[in-house]
Amino acid sequence: MNDVTSRYPTEDVEKPRIVILISGSGSNMLTIADQVLSGSIDADIAGVVCNEPEAAGVQKARDRDLDVSVIDHRGFTSREEFDVALMRTIDDYQPDLVVLAGFMRILTPDLVRRYEGRMLNIHPSLLPKYQGLHTHRRALEAGDDLHGVTVHFVTEVLDDGPNVIQAVVPVMDGDTEETLRKRVQLQEHIIYPIAVKWFVEGRLEMVSGLATFDGKPMPDTGVKLEG
Ligand code: GRF
Repeated sequence: MNDVTSRYPTEDVEKPRIVILISGSGSNMLTIADQVLSGSIDADIAGVVCNEPEAAGVQKARDRDLDVSVIDHRGFTSREEFDVALMRTIDDYQPDLVVLAGFMRILTPDLVRRYEGRMLNIHPSLLPKYQGLHTHRRALEAGDDLHGVTVHFVTEVLDDGPNVIQAVVPVMDGDTEETLRKRVQLQEHIIYPIAVKWFVEGRLEMVSGLATFDGKPMPDTGVKLEG
């Protein structure tokens, strides 16, 4: 039979598989999952992994009928031991992309190397500014006019891998950590799904330590969205 559709059945073509790691409220996980579930990101959420049994994000993921694995890091005697269990859990989902969405654990080099080039993180600052914690407080204390958020590939140095997208957020008079956090988070929910979509469409890659888009190196900032 000379029927093209029967020779290439689309339903047999596997979509890229995404695993999302969370520790907290899971709002970034949810925006990405909802874009996948609505079809605007052409992928499957293979699973959500959380290290905090009581995290609000666990219930949010279950409400969307996502497969959720909870691994409490307190049940392990070392970071290495926890990460071995974490890698096993992630690998069981056979992901093409690992998305860190508020996953509040420092990762061992073994884990980072395993997923290098297919692991993204979102960090609430204009990296390389304010790596680490309390980014909103530090931007306020420094008197910055501009703050923001970055999606980047994960490499062995914390919050240091090549940038993919940054959104710039103005700091307003009278801002508190909380008002600034909320303004930044609105941008997180815009830029993280974009980066995930680019990756699963094969447009975004990490090549020789650089983020590339359609085969061309991105600027150091990544694509910069000025508010
Ligand atoms: C976000 O602010 C993100 O930038 C940081 O952790 C937070 C996670 O928030 N890495 P949520 O759990 O996605 O609501």
